[in-house]
Amino acid sequence: MAEIAPTKSVGPEYRSEKPTATISTVVEFDNVTVLPQTPQLIALLSIIRNRDTQRGDFVFTSNRIIRLLVEEGLNHLPTVEHTVTTPVGRPYEGLSFQGKICGVSIMRAGEAMEQGLRDCCRSVRIGKILIQRDEETAQPKLFYDKLPDDIADRWVLLLDPMLATGGSAIMAVDVLKSRGVPEERILFLNVLACPEGIKNFASKFPSLRVVTAFVDQGLDEKNYIIPGLGDFGDRYYTR
Ligand code: URA
Repeated sequence: MAEIAPTKSVGPEYRSEKPTATISTVVEFDNVTVLPQTPQLIALLSIIRNRDTQRGDFVFTSNRIIRLLVEEGLNHLPTVEHTVTTPVGRPYEGLSFQGKICGVSIMRAGEAMEQGLRDCCRSVRIGKILIQRDEETAQPKLFYDKLPDDIADRWVLLLDPMLATGGSAIMAVDVLKSRGVPEERILFLNVLACPEGIKNFASKFPSLRVVTAFVDQGLDEKNYIIPGLGDFGDRYYTR
């Protein structure tokens, strides 16, 4: 059984009495960003982790977490200085996004993250990659991909809510790199990771960035993340 991650008091600084909750395991990779462990995020994660949560609430709550991930992910894209004039005729020295983007979802669970990306980036192009376990070799196998023709010129937001061993994510990045996408232009957005997956993935691709909501304690003997939330795709789509 994996070591239990520490519990920490969670809450705003102005409150003296704060509840304790298990927060994300700390990971020592410069290219991994874990969302701030706010009371809101922990409460949302507590809903989707709960086995008694019904599909409607699971979908609604996952979508809220995905929205937080997308908003944080966009902070890692390049911006340039951009001054605008306000309705009262004054200049405001701001920023604008630079560069074209596209989403790529790792089917099927990653497709659940597409709408969150569309909600923030209107008419964003979205590619798909299907990777499944080969029953004979137990290794991940590429079954299908459909990617924008000009993907090599874009920043890619790679979408998969669960990072377990990292096998599928690694294969997906290999596909993107084979289509000419430089590693430093890939951003992996993820709801729940574990130390094994983070280590395998982030150390293999030190130039890409990972944005995750939480790094859990580990994997069980069936490679489910623990304590985890079960099978994300089943809970989002079918259960
Ligand atoms: N995929 C899931 O849906 N859940 C896990 O725990 C691991 C991989």
